[in-house]
Amino acid sequence: MGRQLEEPLKIIEKCSERVSTIPAGTNVSTSIFMLHRHENFWENPTVFNPERFTKENIAKRPAFAYVPFSAGSRNCIGQNFAMNEMKICLAQVIRKLRLYIDGDSPVPKMLPRIILQSESGIFI
Ligand code: HEM
Repeated sequence: MGRQLEEPLKIIEKCSERVSTIPAGTNVSTSIFMLHRHENFWENPTVFNPERFTKENIAKRPAFAYVPFSAGSRNCIGQNFAMNEMKICLAQVIRKLRLYIDGDSPVPKMLPRIILQSESGIFI
């Protein structure tokens, strides 16, 4: 997520309590990828664990710890469309097919571009 600061941003380092200020007008970017793997918010961040998204577990972490569609006035306008599209596609597929990971295929290798892709493909 890229933004230009309209006002100075004060940052306090947790370990040293050192304070620094980023001036207004600076272009800053935040990595959603890193945020969603940050150990301050996620236990064993790289492990697939759908239980992270139960109502109780969501309530335990800050609201902006999980922002796949960003947040604020420039967040994704396609969020509801994308969520519905994914659910409909998945429902169509699992009505007809049983999915499993093909153990003989290459392990997906992350390729960060504008969106995250797998360089080695995803075999199911
Ligand atoms: C899983 C699918 C999708 C994800 C994860 C996603 C994620 C995002 C993210 C992170 C942003 C950046 C917002 C920011 O800078 O704060 C964004 C912006 C945007 N997305 Fe999506 N998006 C998805 C699907 C879609 C779809 C299906 C559409 C259109 C039908 C769409 C249209 C847009 C537009 C127009 C913006 C720019 C909004 C602005 O700058 O005001 N997105 N999206």
